[in-house]
Amino acid sequence: MAQQQIELKRGLNGVYFDTTESSDVMPEGRLIYRGYDIHDLASKSTFEEVVYLMMHGALPTRWQLADFDAALKAARKLPPEVIDIIVKVKGAHPMDVLRTAISALSAFDGETETMGKDANIRKGIRLTAQTASIVAAHHRIRQGKPMLEPDPSLSHAGNFLYMLLGEKPDKDTAELMDRDFIVHLDHSSNASSFAARVTASTLADLHGCVVSGIATLKGPLHGGAAEGVMKMALEIGDVSNVESYLAKKHANRERIMGFGHRVYKAEDPRARHLRDGSALLAQKKGQPKWFQILSKVEEQMRPYAQRGICVNVDFWAGSVYYLLGIPEDLFIPIFAVARVPGYVVQVIEQQGRNVLIRPLVQYVGPHDQQYVPIDQRG
Ligand SMILES: CC(C)(COP(=O)(O)OP(=O)(O)OC[C@H]1O[C@@H](n2cnc3c(N)ncnc32)[C@H](O)[C@@H]1OP(=O)(O)O)[C@@H](O)C(=O)NCCC(=O)NCCS
Repeated sequence: MAQQQIELKRGLNGVYFDTTESSDVMPEGRLIYRGYDIHDLASKSTFEEVVYLMMHGALPTRWQLADFDAALKAARKLPPEVIDIIVKVKGAHPMDVLRTAISALSAFDGETETMGKDANIRKGIRLTAQTASIVAAHHRIRQGKPMLEPDPSLSHAGNFLYMLLGEKPDKDTAELMDRDFIVHLDHSSNASSFAARVTASTLADLHGCVVSGIATLKGPLHGGAAEGVMKMALEIGDVSNVESYLAKKHANRERIMGFGHRVYKAEDPRARHLRDGSALLAQKKGQPKWFQILSKVEEQMRPYAQRGICVNVDFWAGSVYYLLGIPEDLFIPIFAVARVPGYVVQVIEQQGRNVLIRPLVQYVGPHDQQYVPIDQRG
């Protein structure tokens, strides 16, 4: 049979599959959430307020925000059964532990099977709080340290750092983590949000959709670049080695981690907030070395901007986490802590006017194979 002429879009590159009102990623280096510029939100808002904005579609009043914040705080404690599961799987990669624990939470959420926007917002609030608690609890458990009770006087970001590292962060550090969460919250049709939407399109429950998103985020082509950047900085070791390191990479046609983006062809607008944070932390911790190395890499890579290869969010995120004393295998889970409410928003949007996402793939294998019984095969 003659092969049908089909125009393939491998990787769905350049394909629009629906419309969205949640976020827009623009090639010229602009990002908006529900119409608000990321720079305004990162510098003037809080993670709690932005999660409200994303879930409800409008900024909250003072009272709405207070209720929302109270609901987030009320959900910080994990069911003891889920803690038992985390203890049992504590040796796995933190992303695998997170995926497993979120899946387990579905057994203890009274509304797992309740569908609709309102239930999804209630579950989404709980999942947002619980994701942070799982990442922190697992890190404490695997180190043999006691888990910490959530502190209701702290913001979502501040409480996460406290439960993870065992020390209450100062105002600047809590605000930096808050900004990091804001800029990572949503990013249009990225691979993991798309995975969450595909699951949502079958009318599966929210916990299942979030598990799909988290499983997809783990891959090094998606969530893993921040770790790669910090590995590069450690390999370079000293600012005087930057030029020779990059020359070798370019000669071998290797990619420089933290540069380039499928959509942005100018600087990723999220990068500047983490660059500022990295500079602040470097000064505060008396460890200017990593900031100096990365600044020099950024400077040396400037000519690549002409080809649309510019700095992306991951370039500075890794150094921020590193300077906070967070181990490299938690870089992707931290991304997940910020992105889970993004999955919730996209699932609500998908199910609000659902259509099953079921694309076609062109079959190119044989058509007329004859079945041979097993005892007659050579
Ligand atoms: C993110 C990324 C996968 C986007 O890739 P893409 O839009 O599909 O672009 P391509 O992979 O087709 O690359 C286009 C060209 O730019 C070059 N390029 C892209 N990113 C590069 C980088 N980080 N360093 C050096 N060259 C790069 C490619 O080598 C290719 O060059 P060629 O045309 O001479 O072969 C890619 O830029 C990358 O691998 N970056 C490093 C990893 C990273 O930081 N990921 C986090 C993204 S937020």
